[in-house]
Amino acid sequence: MDDKVVESLIRQALEARMNAHSRYSGFSVGAALLTEDQVTYRGCNVENASYGLTICAERVALANAVTDGRQSFVALAVAANDITAPCGACRQVLAEFCKEDFPIFLVSEQDPNTCRTHFLGKLLPERFSFNP
Ligand code: THU
Repeated sequence: MDDKVVESLIRQALEARMNAHSRYSGFSVGAALLTEDQVTYRGCNVENASYGLTICAERVALANAVTDGRQSFVALAVAANDITAPCGACRQVLAEFCKEDFPIFLVSEQDPNTCRTHFLGKLLPERFSFNP
């Protein structure tokens, strides 16, 4: 993937992170999801006084994209206080739309120039799926 595209995705994840509603944990997360047709959808974590209702940044970005009729994705960037890989729930939700070779770029707000790359298949081996 083109370095400029990755840089732009990371920048947008960092920007989205600024809008996080994270008053309970103090842990702000931003996500930027790139579609096959080169549109970026952003998300941030939205926490709630009833803690369990919190929505992660990755799922917000994904839901925004699906709402706009997009279901084909090529990459995701996630920015947080520290380098943070998507939680288990987000991995399974990403697996609904993304294959094993889907790249996920992780950055920390403290060191935005250092990026760690993971692939969904490594983060979620043996994904759950069935054909209804
Ligand atoms: N969080 C995310 O937004 N994405 C993840 O993949 C991990 C966790 C959020 C949820 C909660 O608002 C805060 O980080 C602390 O768990």
